[in-house]
Amino acid sequence: MNASVEYIKNHQEKFLDELFKLLRIPSISADSQYKDEVRATADFVQAKLKEAGCDKAEICETPGHPIVYGEKIIDESLPTILVYGHYDVQPADPLDLWDSPPFEPVIKDGRIYARGACDDKGQFYMHVKAFEAMVANDELTCNVKFMIEGEEEVGSDNLGDFVKANKEKLKSDIIVISDTSMISNDCPSITVGLKGLSYLEVEVTGPNRDLHSGVYGGGVANPINTLCDMISSLMDDKGRVTIPGFYDKVVELTAQERADLNAAPFDEEDYKKDLDIAAVKGEDGYTTLERVGIRPTLDVNGIWGGYIGEGAKTVLPSKAYAKISTRLVPNQSSDEITELLVKHIENIAPDYVKVKVTPHHGGDPAVTPTDSKGYLAAAQAVEKAWGKKPIPTRDGGSIPIVALFNEELKVDSVLLGMGLDEDAIHSPNESYGVENYMKGIETISWFHQYFAETK
Ligand code: BES
Ligand code: MN
Ligand code: MN
Repeated sequence: MNASVEYIKNHQEKFLDELFKLLRIPSISADSQYKDEVRATADFVQAKLKEAGCDKAEICETPGHPIVYGEKIIDESLPTILVYGHYDVQPADPLDLWDSPPFEPVIKDGRIYARGACDDKGQFYMHVKAFEAMVANDELTCNVKFMIEGEEEVGSDNLGDFVKANKEKLKSDIIVISDTSMISNDCPSITVGLKGLSYLEVEVTGPNRDLHSGVYGGGVANPINTLCDMISSLMDDKGRVTIPGFYDKVVELTAQERADLNAAPFDEEDYKKDLDIAAVKGEDGYTTLERVGIRPTLDVNGIWGGYIGEGAKTVLPSKAYAKISTRLVPNQSSDEITELLVKHIENIAPDYVKVKVTPHHGGDPAVTPTDSKGYLAAAQAVEKAWGKKPIPTRDGGSIPIVALFNEELKVDSVLLGMGLDEDAIHSPNESYGVENYMKGIETISWFHQYFAETK
């Protein structure tokens, strides 16, 4: 890999320039106003895959946003690496909290600021550039396939069908995904656990119209008050979810597994300081790392209703809404938990309101092995590029398709993510370190070499 690594070092400017072009296209999958931009991003990725050396690069239509597929098969007898990533991004709002416009990337203090800089444009593009370097220097050691989708941030609804319908095309020995984070650049880590997700929306209706809150208040239930009562009953004072059956399938970790998890460097004081909170909060009996990494959780993501304009309006609203999500751990099933949640919320609704529950997307939790060929090669590659042996960690985030890869393709995934918590993914001022981008490209090249070597 020496020539490729040299090539990578000499092409920083080109690699950044191309990433900037990719970051300038607002590929917001959740907002149908950006449909054309999402498509333009797919076209851009397709062109770049071709330029980098793919023999074939195509746009695969889905009922939603397209999937970009590319491949270079150099020798059927060599191992095949399937790269998965996503070119779509989260909405950029609240826009006024950005220090520079989200789709006009800039470098400040060694960091690239833009929506998608880390999640996941900057990260999946590392694979394209590592591939380019290896092709240009005739150092490719594996066949490579790329599957870059445009719907990850909205639940990968159409990718499952694509995977099921294209098992032969996606045949591979390992799936590599750079869409997670490390503990820090001084303490590199490899994610081995992702949470699942069940997400739903609740609509509570009280009276058939908005009412005067003095004339009717006290005599008629206020749907916002009622929704708040219902939500607060979903968790008890020990921080546990009260939905019957919610914990039935949760796998408890062994004392050793918990000790390993808690051995990761984590400073609770720094954590609180960074977030400007006086205290942490979570399920009794678990540390912060455990609460985030291995325990299922429930959160309200949004709540609205009534008057929220300037000044005060005395109103008893007709409707109230909330978006509620649960994060799931092995062996909880997203479909089962969604069903439990819907039933429970319908059950606890008092007779003075009507309630409508609508499930959104979901995904099952995933655990990736630490003894697979893929993990061992990834650990070697990280050590080579970062100078330290990585430690395995469990993340609270979700990549819905990982569980399905395992089930349908029967191939291990390795989560070779180079992000950091400070990258602020999904938040205003998302960024990605230039060092992480460049070292990530190098890490991926080493991964190709080590993976081809491990038998
Ligand atoms: N890349 C993230 C997931 C992630 C981030 C995993 C950091 C581990 C560490 C991914 O793009 C994401 O945001 N996933 C969504 C799920 C999706 C269904 C909207 C999430 O976790 O909220
Ligand atoms: Mn992502
Ligand atoms: Mn994301």
